Amino acid sequence: MSNKSVFSKEFLWGGATAANQVEGGYDEGGKGLSVTDVQTAGSLEVPRYLTYTLNGEKGKIVSLPGQGLPKGAKGAVFDEEYYPNHVAIDFYHRYKEDIKLFAEMGFKVYRLSIAWTRIFPNGDEKKPNQEGLDFYRRVFEELKKYNIEPLVTISHYEDPLALSEKYGDWSDRKMIDEFEKYAKVLFKEYKGLVKYWLTFNEINSALLMLDMFGSGGNDEDYQHAYQKLHYQFVASARAVKAAHEIDPNNVVGNMICGVATYPGTTDPADVIANRYNWEQNILYCGDVQAKGKYPTYAQRLWDEHNVKLDITDKDLEELKAGKVDMYTFSYYMSNLVTTHEVKDKVGGNFAAGAKNPYLEYSEWGWATDPTGLQYYLELMYDRYELPIMVVENGLGAVDKLEDGKVHDSYRIDYLRQHIQAMAKAIENGVDLRGYTTWGCIDCISAGTGQMSKRYGFIYVDRDDKGNGSLERLKKDSFYWYKKVIESNSTDLD
Ligand code: BG6
Repeated sequence: MSNKSVFSKEFLWGGATAANQVEGGYDEGGKGLSVTDVQTAGSLEVPRYLTYTLNGEKGKIVSLPGQGLPKGAKGAVFDEEYYPNHVAIDFYHRYKEDIKLFAEMGFKVYRLSIAWTRIFPNGDEKKPNQEGLDFYRRVFEELKKYNIEPLVTISHYEDPLALSEKYGDWSDRKMIDEFEKYAKVLFKEYKGLVKYWLTFNEINSALLMLDMFGSGGNDEDYQHAYQKLHYQFVASARAVKAAHEIDPNNVVGNMICGVATYPGTTDPADVIANRYNWEQNILYCGDVQAKGKYPTYAQRLWDEHNVKLDITDKDLEELKAGKVDMYTFSYYMSNLVTTHEVKDKVGGNFAAGAKNPYLEYSEWGWATDPTGLQYYLELMYDRYELPIMVVENGLGAVDKLEDGKVHDSYRIDYLRQHIQAMAKAIENGVDLRGYTTWGCIDCISAGTGQMSKRYGFIYVDRDDKGNGSLERLKKDSFYWYKKVIESNSTDLD
């Protein structure tokens, strides 16, 4: 790479985490239970479960992001189960130490999420919980000390358990009002401290996971997913409008789980299947949130599964009035879409497909494909002409701690290739504003609940069963990323 950086001087380099995956302190500071607090640990082979009681009996159900408990069940914590998010990496008590390390790497931005249940423990209270508000104020002030811009996700896979029980995972439009109330409290409370906001993390995962987990043929599941998404679109649009009214400096983005897909063969049937896959799984949510209206292909998607939606004229007006200011997405991998029989199936991050012989796969089966990131960036910028941020990217891997050191050259290689891909997209005209790598400090995996699936520049001493000192150690990638930021990416060696 030449000495002149294609990244602007203001480019926001940084890292990302989510409250439930780092904070711990799950029952401290007046916090209520989130859905993730009744989620057990899993592994690549064993799924995570949500634990509950129903008619006096204990039960558990496979946990999929955004999918709730069985009807009538009450989420419950059982003594015999291990819940990794309860302590996570204890950011709740160690945020100062962690932010200091982020500052040492030169972070310009830190993406974090707010636990809804720290602010409204059950979701439906009239007044917010002061202790919860104070906690995040302290975090934002600490970031300010180091000139690190917070990028705040309002909802990252952790609805209040009580709301989820009451309204069955967004199947009731009353959730829109609850979310709006919560978002407005945040905008008012943190005015002047936070400027960048994201509404729902990976909002499209509701659709993506239907294909991944093989229930793609079930009309009832699609009905639920599309209805839930409609309520979330309206909730997101109302939040965007409120954010602008409360502080015109606010910049609000959507957040899409970005999986690039390609036709699995040159069969024209695969080419169109791939296009339809983009429409359903990626573009549908982006189009509504960025363009403020449903796309023409929406009716076809609904008809495919006999979906009938509760959409009012007022909702459609609200969608128009609440278009996002920027497009943000996570990017880890690409996938193949084919109508032919698949022998070698792979899957990860809510997407499954045929194995691509041109790519390498991580231990968890995720394809490394930096060109897919360039492709995705160029496609989305051309479609929306909105500023873009890559708000998650990284390699989940098992790290070996040797004499207090972690030599994670595999992680450096992965990130280097993706930064080079971003540079190409910028050269081709994409208005890319920021990059926050996922799990900049090791944290609990959302998919498997493992601690051993690590993404961080900072190693955290904790294992999959909750043993360890929680001590923080700098990996090789820590020093590498510091250099990348310092040189604005001209030094990627
Ligand atoms: C995204 C989520 O899906 O991918 C994060 O927004 C998650 O919460 C990340 O942690 C990586 O996935 P996993 O399953 O490896 O933790």
